[in-house]
Amino acid sequence: MTSSSKKDLTLAALAAVFLILAAVFLTDALGRPKLPAPLPLVDTNFLSTATVRRSYADLVKAKDDLSDFDCYTCHEKGKAPPLRYDSRQNLIVAKEHADVVMGHGSHGRNNNCFNCHNETNLELLQSRDGRQLRFSDSPQLCGSCHGPTYRDWETGVHGRTGGYWNRTGEPTDRKACVNCHDPHSPHFPGRHPAPGPHGLHETADAPSTQPETHR
Ligand code: HEC
Ligand code: HEC
Ligand code: HEC
Ligand code: HEC
Repeated sequence: MTSSSKKDLTLAALAAVFLILAAVFLTDALGRPKLPAPLPLVDTNFLSTATVRRSYADLVKAKDDLSDFDCYTCHEKGKAPPLRYDSRQNLIVAKEHADVVMGHGSHGRNNNCFNCHNETNLELLQSRDGRQLRFSDSPQLCGSCHGPTYRDWETGVHGRTGGYWNRTGEPTDRKACVNCHDPHSPHFPGRHPAPGPHGLHETADAPSTQPETHR
């Protein structure tokens, strides 16, 4: 074989290979690679920055309905409402206060209304060290029994601080204890965790995670 016919043969073989590849490509003979599953949209619930509760102070600021705090539309001034207990020494809450579901502490240790409300003036709270506090100052009430948590909260370690970092300029916004804890049943219920970053363990129909509960 001469060197030029060897070259022709090689070129012809190469051309044939490329033609076959072109045909495979154009006819999709090997199929297309599977597209990744579409990224699921995040539940808008995770985008809300609202706290789980609105405090008395929030209601005042928003000029909302404050009738729940108008104790003396029903109670008589200067007369402490009587506390009633069942045979097992559990406090019976009046049906007018159906939204007050007591469960403060693992054994309801702090269920007595007058540990917090002033029996002689229902519109005030009373701390263990005898201070009379308005409803809008409730963190100080909580702090009278939960000193360490209160100090964490004051320094911004517990709870949520928003607004501006520069304390000398614009104001910071520190959420009150009752923005997150129901004062009557303060255990913080579990929440659905927000989804992790995309791509780790993703399948199109991954089951949603259950909220974590501590009890
Ligand atoms: C819609 C009417 C109404 C309003 C408003 C109201 N109460 Fe009462 N509350 C009652 C009734 C009725 C009872 C039953 C006790 C009684 O016989 O006096 C009661 C009982 C209580 C008791 C005793 C525990 C119990 O559940 O029986 C406390 C403490 C109390 N109220 C605190 C308050 C405070 C504090 C406020 C305001 C922040 C308030 N109440 C507002 C109607 C009301
Ligand atoms: C008179 C004292 C007193 C006051 C005031 C008080 N607490 Fe408590 N708190 C307790 C006791 C006692 C426990 C139970 C501790 C335990 O069971 O080990 C408790 C438990 C708790 C818990 C843990 C709940 C759980 O079930 O695990 C939270 C959260 C809490 N309090 C938040 C608050 C908040 C918020 C306030 C203010 C609205 C407040 N407390 C006011 C005495 C108090
Ligand atoms: C650990 C302290 C604590 C105890 C114990 C407590 N409260 Fe309260 N309560 C508060 C605080 C703080 C608020 C105001 C919360 C806010 O700003 O949203 C409040 C709000 C209320 C309100 C007005 C808002 C609403 O939820 O209707 C009523 C009525 C009330 N409490 C009744 C009672 C009664 C009745 C008891 C006893 C069965 C009781 N509380 C026990 C701390 C307490
Ligand atoms: C922004 C929300 C938020 C605010 C504001 C907040 N807490 Fe909490 N708190 C939580 C969460 C979340 C937990 C953890 C619950 C869990 O692990 O089950 C918690 C736990 C606690 C506990 C349980 C004991 C512990 O250390 O685990 C206490 C007591 C408590 N908080 C008291 C307070 C008091 C008092 C204030 C106000 C001075 C306050 N919290 C403000 C969200 C908040």
